[in-house]
Parts: sequence; C-alpha cells; structure tokens
Amino acid sequence: MIILGIETSCDETALSLIEASGTKDTPEIKVLANLVHSQVEIHKEYGGVFPALAKREHSQNLLPLFKKLLTEAGFGNSKSEILNPKQILDSRFSIIDSILDREPELLKQFLEFLPNIEKPPIDAIAVTEGPGLEPALWVGVNFARALAAVWDIPILPINHMEGHIVSALLRDAETADLRGLDPGSRTSQTRFTTGHGAEQRGNNATNYQLQTINFPALALLISGGHTELVLIKDWFDYEIVGETLDDAVGEAFDKVARILGLPYPGGPQISALAEKSRAEISQINADKNADERGYGISVNLRNHPRSSAFHFPRPMKNSGDLNFSFSGLKTAVLYAVKNIPTLTNEIIMEVAREFEDAATESLTFKTEKAVETYGIKTLIVGGGVSANIHIRRELKKMAARHSLDFFVSTPEIATDNALMIALAAGMRKIFGARFADNGKSGALKAVGNLRLSA
Ligand code: KG4
Ligand code: ZN
Repeated sequence: MIILGIETSCDETALSLIEASGTKDTPEIKVLANLVHSQVEIHKEYGGVFPALAKREHSQNLLPLFKKLLTEAGFGNSKSEILNPKQILDSRFSIIDSILDREPELLKQFLEFLPNIEKPPIDAIAVTEGPGLEPALWVGVNFARALAAVWDIPILPINHMEGHIVSALLRDAETADLRGLDPGSRTSQTRFTTGHGAEQRGNNATNYQLQTINFPALALLISGGHTELVLIKDWFDYEIVGETLDDAVGEAFDKVARILGLPYPGGPQISALAEKSRAEISQINADKNADERGYGISVNLRNHPRSSAFHFPRPMKNSGDLNFSFSGLKTAVLYAVKNIPTLTNEIIMEVAREFEDAATESLTFKTEKAVETYGIKTLIVGGGVSANIHIRRELKKMAARHSLDFFVSTPEIATDNALMIALAAGMRKIFGARFADNGKSGALKAVGNLRLSA
C-alpha cells in the first residue's frame, strides 16, 4: 500500500511517500519520495523554536512541498478538464473550508492546486498526532484531514516517538547494509537547498528491509523535546521506564551552545567542537609519547595545558532509578563560563567536550542499567541527538559489552522527517497492529503531550 507521511511536530515541515508491502517476516519498504523543509534559519534569530512562527511556516510550506513530493514520486498529473470555481464549490472541496479555517494560507493554496490534479494512488495518510508543539501539530493534522476528505482516504495517526524508533530499523535491501551501524555510512539521501537558506532533503525510490528485533528491546529516545528509555516487550508494545525530570538532552545541547555563543541548533556545533578537542588531545598524547620515547619531536607541551580545567556533574547517576536530569548540568556550564573574562576558541572547545562527556556518560550509564534490569537483547537509539557521533560511539561500545543487537538511525533520518511517520504506519499495517482511535471519526486531534504506551 502507498502511504503519505506528514510530520509537522516541531520546526521541520516534512512529507514522504512510501510503499509498504510484504509480510511480518519479510516486510518491504520502498521510499518513493522524502522531503524535509527545515525552518532552522528562521528560528535561529530567536535561539530556539518559536511555536507561532513554526505554525505559520508549516502552513505556508506544506503545499509547495506536497507538489514537489508528488512530482518526485511521479504522481500529481493535471486533470484533463479543469474545474471552474462553481464546480469546485459544489464538489467535495466545499467541506475543506471548515477543516482548514485556522490555516487560511494553506486553504488558499489547497484550493488552487488540489481540484486540478488527478487523485494520486495513495492508500492511507499517516500523520504525527503528537507529541510536539500543538499549534505546529495541528497544521499537519488539518492538512491530513483535508486530503482525507477530498480523496476519501483513511488517516493513520502516528506517535512521533514511534517514528524515531522505527527509523533505526531501516536496512538497505540491495546492499544488505546495516544502515546506521556505522556513523557516516553510505546513504542514498541527496541534499539540495532552496531559497531562504532552507534545506530540503530528497530521496529517490530506494528499497529497504527492516531489522528483525530480538525482544525484549530497549529504545533510548533522545531529541530536543524528549529523553526516554522505552522498554519494548513486543512489536508496538511500549513502556516508558525512564525519562528526564527536567530538560531533554537535546535542549541541554542547545542551551549550552547558546551559553557558549554558538548558533541554534547547538547539538551539531557542540558535537563538532568536542570531536575536534578530542582529536587534538589524542594528537598531543601521541606526540608526548613519541617525545618520551626519544624521537626528538619538539612539542611545547606547556602550550597545551590539557588536564581540563572543567569537570561537570553526572546528574542522577546515583538516583537508583532510570530517570535523567540535564538542567543542573546546563547550570554548571553556565556558572563555569560566567567567571571567564574571554571565551577563547580553546576554552569553548574544552567546555563543549566536557559537557558532551558528562551528557554521554549520563545517557550510557542509565541505558546500561536498564539493559541489565530488563535482560535486554536489542538496543535501539533514535531522535535528533542520536546523530551525535560520540553518543553513538559510546552506546555502541556498551551494546557490544552486553552482546546486544544495536540499531541506530543514519544521521540523515535521526532528526525529524516524515519517512519515519509513514514507516511506522506501514509497519503497523504489515503487522496487523491497531492504530489509535483518534482518527476514527475524521475528527483527529493533535495531542501535544502524547505518550508511548502499550
Ligand atoms: O528529533 P529532533 O530533530 O526534534 C525533536 O523532536 O526534538 O531533535 C532535535 C535535537 C536538537 O536539540 C538538536 O540540537 C539535536 O537534536 N541534535 C544534536 C545533533 N544533531 C541534532 N545533538 C547533539 N549532537 C548532534 N550531532
Ligand atoms: Zn523528533
């Protein structure tokens, strides 16, 4: 079946088209088109995501992105006969007014485009119902409802966090590449930019298979809004066994970046600086060893005072449960930095590394504890922060110590996208799993604080 995926929970407007087929034992996923329009450039000015702005941007960008999606997938042919405004009013399109009355921009573009194209062969519409920013979620939900109404297609409501889980399970069907096991591994995704500095990512028809999971599995979900440990006893059976008591880890990365004067979103910036700092340290250590062995390499070690001046706390390490906390870590960085008259690049790199070390250790420690507590066989890591090289590396090592199957999404689909939403819906269909009742009456609602459950 062909599934349209819609994702608008935060600051990425994303659409994708997939074809899901096969059986429970051999599910097959073909990605027909996959586009992400990032709002990062717009939110940068505010140092974080501004909900009203996100809503407006989704509303403006969904239709242009949808047109492009249909073209990439080879759908969206014009009708031979163009409807006149009266015919449009008399048709199914008359009901769209009430569905999109909160999104006038989207309504206008919708009515200019949709009545004049042939109905594409889409069998279902998967849309993120939550969690996320409610005003932003509503745009995607209403867009789904409008399309479902005019084309008479069912809606499949999807939990965004389930999307992050399943995106770690994709495996390239042709190369049998265990996608994501290797940070920076080959990817068929292409990147291209459009106006306003916004970025879109496309992906021409690629076939994927899914990793099989040995249960019980554990998912560590780490993003800008969430830090959760999810016990998965069977397909789609979730229990949150640990979570952050305050800030999400991605939020901490973003806030620390801000303290250090780095632009939003801070995660990738901190990660790059911390890696650079680690590389320098290992170079210095290598030089130092060479020097000690009398190779006569002259290194002025006094110019590289590398016993770090910073050490940040590992919050909640002794809490005895599986919960996290990142707000104290952020505050520790703030106080450490406050007393430094000039933040040199050297200091910024050092703070970035020490912060990343502390955050990584917290995540790894609690994840390992959960692995031991529940006799876990498979570890899945998802969410935007799972793009972080150091975190991937440390979790992979821990997984190896416990002989776990280890799946993490490729960095490209670790951050928000609609492929993961369509994929979750496709998998539920293939596995014959239930969908939330939310969509039944056509009165689907956005649920900002939606939680994963059994
Ligand atoms: O999953 P996501 O795209 O959106 C939410 O659902 O929140 O995650 C976005 C978060 C941001 O906080 C961003 O700074 C963080 O993921 N992030 C990273 C990296 N790439 C993105 N954090 C650390 N290292 C990275 N390489
Ligand atoms: Zn996300």
